[in-house]
Amino acid sequence: MGALLWVVVILVNEVTAFIHPRQPSPCQVHQKSAYCNDLSLRTVPARLPPDIHKLDLSGNLLQNLTHEVLAVYTTVHHLNFHSNKIEFIQPGLFKDMKNLQVLDLSRNYLDLFAARKTHVGPLTSVEKLDLSGNGLYTDMSDYFLQDAPALKNLSLDGNSITKIGKNTFAGSSALRNIDLHNNVILDIEEGAFEYLDSLAELDLSVNSISCIADFNLHQLKSLNLSKNSLEHFQTRDSDREYELLYLDLRENKILYFPILPRKNKLIYLDLSRNLLRSINTTATAEELEYLKNTEYLAHVHLNLNQKHQDLPQLLFLDLSYNQIKTIPSAFFTTTMALETLNISNNCLESFTIDQESPLNSLKTLDLSFNALQNLSFGESTLQSLEVLYLQGNYLTTLEFDTFHRLPSIRGLHLQQNYLTICSSQSRSPQNHGCVSFSSVPTLHYLYLSGNSLESVPQYAFRGSPLYILDLSENPGVEIHENSFSGLEATLTHLSLKSNHLQELNTDLSVFGNLKFVDLSINKLTGLPLWAKESSIESLNLQNNSLVTLEYNTVLALEKSLKTLYMGSNPLRCCGNSRFLNLFKASNVDIPDIDTVTCYYRKDSEYVEINISRVMSEHCQTLDRTSVIVISVVVLAVLMVVLLVVVTKLCQPTRHRFNRNFKA
Ligand SMILES: *[C@@H]1O[C@H](CO)[C@@H](O)[C@H](O)[C@H]1NC(C)=O
Ligand SMILES: *[C@@H]1O[C@H](CO)[C@@H](O)[C@H](O)[C@H]1NC(C)=O
Ligand SMILES: *[C@@H]1O[C@H](CO)[C@@H](O)[C@H](O)[C@H]1NC(C)=O
Ligand SMILES: *[C@@H]1O[C@H](CO)[C@@H](O)[C@H](O)[C@H]1NC(C)=O
Ligand SMILES: *[C@@H]1O[C@H](CO)[C@@H](O)[C@H](O)[C@H]1NC(C)=O
Ligand SMILES: *[C@@H]1O[C@H](CO)[C@@H](O)[C@H](O)[C@H]1NC(C)=O
Ligand SMILES: *[C@@H]1O[C@H](CO)[C@@H](O)[C@H](O)[C@H]1NC(C)=O
Ligand SMILES: *[C@@H]1O[C@H](CO)[C@@H](O)[C@H](O)[C@H]1NC(C)=O
Repeated sequence: MGALLWVVVILVNEVTAFIHPRQPSPCQVHQKSAYCNDLSLRTVPARLPPDIHKLDLSGNLLQNLTHEVLAVYTTVHHLNFHSNKIEFIQPGLFKDMKNLQVLDLSRNYLDLFAARKTHVGPLTSVEKLDLSGNGLYTDMSDYFLQDAPALKNLSLDGNSITKIGKNTFAGSSALRNIDLHNNVILDIEEGAFEYLDSLAELDLSVNSISCIADFNLHQLKSLNLSKNSLEHFQTRDSDREYELLYLDLRENKILYFPILPRKNKLIYLDLSRNLLRSINTTATAEELEYLKNTEYLAHVHLNLNQKHQDLPQLLFLDLSYNQIKTIPSAFFTTTMALETLNISNNCLESFTIDQESPLNSLKTLDLSFNALQNLSFGESTLQSLEVLYLQGNYLTTLEFDTFHRLPSIRGLHLQQNYLTICSSQSRSPQNHGCVSFSSVPTLHYLYLSGNSLESVPQYAFRGSPLYILDLSENPGVEIHENSFSGLEATLTHLSLKSNHLQELNTDLSVFGNLKFVDLSINKLTGLPLWAKESSIESLNLQNNSLVTLEYNTVLALEKSLKTLYMGSNPLRCCGNSRFLNLFKASNVDIPDIDTVTCYYRKDSEYVEINISRVMSEHCQTLDRTSVIVISVVVLAVLMVVLLVVVTKLCQPTRHRFNRNFKA
């Protein structure tokens, strides 16, 4: 009987368990990962598999992390608490999580925790710790880092730290990567990073540091100091080799070229948006006199012997947005490996590369938006240069063969200068004061807009396999029928925008690859006659004086055209059916269709209407007037004919009479 009762009890239990299974967890469990993110949870779900490796609780409402809720998950490797409301962590909570490697506590209220002056306890195995966005201020990070011997990657991004103390990282000496981006650091105590033997990457960007007077982190590979208030950067004078590869000093207030490690492996140096006036590392004698009593010299141990320093492995140098007036060509003997040099937006008036320092590895040179009048590239220099940016300067004359000397040149950005195009490539008196673009066998992109060009001579680009040719914004430029001859096989983009062109004699159908043509903002009344079907896919005819498009033009375009811009033309609505069909054809996209209007005549006045709203009756209205005119004319003609017939009918009698009379 007892046994039977027992069996019944078990059965009942089984059945209840079957009917009311254990509360399912709200999380998604996949292999050994539990995803409990964005569920408005206020506590850690209890019934997850106890052996999970990854637990994602980001985007919830957790406030207190205690043993009670977390202690079961001791096997976890990866804990994500990003974006909760955590303000309390039970000290020692992570001590028993022997496998915990990644701990993300970003975007919480850990400043409230740190304000209690309690330590989080040992983070024995944690390698990556994210404390970004927690409102932590100076010294608060100490409560997390005191005992983190395995920590390699630390983010303190977006806190309110004002000072890095000497011992800030004393408990986390295995650090390799420290992110202190976006704090308000004013001061770094001497020695703060020195004992971090593995430190390779340090991001101090977006802070308030005003000087680095004694840089001595030999082990560092990448240092980001962009967006601070640095006035100078100086390395400790030493013959030791530095490992530094990347140095970002962009957007500071640096006045002189930084004093870099004498023995360096630097490959990347960004000095853009500073206050450099030259690439000298020191002030001139007069400036020194002036600076003598200022705070500047208090920090700087000037090394007056060192004018330019060797940067033998530097590949990238950005000096854009400074106030540099000249760069002595000798500077480039120190940067022989450079591949990218950006000096745009400075005050250069002339620029020279000579054979002493030929920069034969340079691929990209940006000299745009300076005040360049003179430019000189010596023989056998810049042999690898592929792209040259010279837009926005005052170049009027260049040696006519400047670009023939660049055997790898692919792109020339010469817009907004005052250049003239030579008609041939030979050294002849007529080639004085112009620059030749023909027979540059590597040239694919040429931008010459805004050069006040007067004409584009015949065969100006012959022998240069251009894909893109931009001649826009040269109002009044004369374009010859053969200006583009030689580009038949290569040209894909042609812009003749804003040139006051009244006609264009070039048959664009001979350019077999031409796909994009911009003829907008001109005064064209028609397009040239095209010999065959064109390959043009996009044609911009906006803002011209077109009344219609010739039947043959439409025929030549119809097959290939995909996009047509046609707004702001005095088009005629009627008697233009082939052309209107082009608009209606579904395969042609007219992005500016709302501005394409045409005119039809109504009661002897011209009325403008959106082209998409043209109906046949608009043209019939016009016909009604014509009908009257035509009727009148026809009537008149008929009467004349009648008159003639009548007179003719009368005449024979008279003739006869006359004949008779003669006879
Ligand atoms: C967290 O702990 C504080 C006190 O330490 C307590 O006032 C608060 O109610 C706790 N919050 C939750 C969600 O348990
Ligand atoms: C940790 O830092 C190193 C550089 O020190 C970096 O290469 C790596 O991607 C970082 N790891 C993680 C998981 O962020
Ligand atoms: C330095 O930091 C800035 C701002 O965070 C970032 O935009 C830039 O890419 C970083 N520079 C390097 C070399 O990584
Ligand atoms: C830079 O140094 C050179 C050579 O010492 C000197 O002639 C020049 O005036 C200096 N330029 C500036 C702007 O300090
Ligand atoms: C040179 O720097 C300017 C401004 O920083 C930038 O706009 C330009 O793209 C850079 N040039 C190249 C070739 O990267
Ligand atoms: C440019 O060169 C011309 C003659 O070669 C010279 O007269 C002029 O001073 C130079 N201009 C600059 C800014 O160097
Ligand atoms: C055509 O272009 C000229 C020059 O840019 C401009 O002033 C004018 O407003 C444009 N006309 C129309 C109708 O868009
Ligand atoms: C053409 O249509 C656009 C928008 O659809 C309108 O703004 C414009 O006024 C119309 N123009 C004429 C002439 O009806």
